[in-house]
Amino acid sequence: MSAENDPVKLMKQQVGVAAAARVQSGSIVGLGTGSTTAYAIQALGDRLKSGDLKDIKGVPTSFQAIVLARQYGIPLVTLDEIGSIDLAIDGADEVDPQKNLIKGGGAAHTQEKIVDSLAAQFIVVVDGGKLVDRLGSTFLLPVEVIPMAVTPAMRAIAKLGGKPELRMGIKKAGPVVTDQGNLVIDVKFDRIDNPAELEKTLNNIPGVLENGLFVGVADVVLIGEIVDGKPIVREM
Ligand code: A5P
Repeated sequence: MSAENDPVKLMKQQVGVAAAARVQSGSIVGLGTGSTTAYAIQALGDRLKSGDLKDIKGVPTSFQAIVLARQYGIPLVTLDEIGSIDLAIDGADEVDPQKNLIKGGGAAHTQEKIVDSLAAQFIVVVDGGKLVDRLGSTFLLPVEVIPMAVTPAMRAIAKLGGKPELRMGIKKAGPVVTDQGNLVIDVKFDRIDNPAELEKTLNNIPGVLENGLFVGVADVVLIGEIVDGKPIVREM
């Protein structure tokens, strides 16, 4: 994965590498999903290969994370085999000043929420473009729904004031199907005033598996930025 000459990719790469540098030997690490985390997984693999890091195990959040972990030589474990996760590294689509997130741009938020919530420390890796004053300002809120419940779930979401649309595939005819075999409804809310309440309300709709609001889950947010033409990483 080369980030040369693309400032956004460069920011993602730097922040991914910075998060991977915080992992200690012997750790169990949650491996998030998305293009930023992909750089962190690559950097973890590089550290293992060089001998700088030893004896880590990854808990993947998606098929993408499984594929990348195998590619970069990170041994994987399931939640059935471990008692705890030391640290999780994962991206986000929006981050507000309270470190609440919208995730699910890669349709992986259900497994991500399970793994990220279980981690003793959850490090979010984003480029500066993901910071918002209020969640929902730039990104639609993803909601994973069991296929048979899509139509009633969309009606219920509309009653809550959201504008729902079924996510369609790119280079795949028809809707996006998640790693669990479900569908994703992307929802535009004019304002998300109370993310904690909306997270619970949406998950209470029959057929909804999980939504992309992550409230009170993130511990550390690392932000990749370009300052004076150079990539830097700062902590929120
Ligand atoms: C996956 O479903 C998402 O939650 C990603 O973590 C999020 O979309 C961030 O992805 P990028 O790092 O590719 O922007």
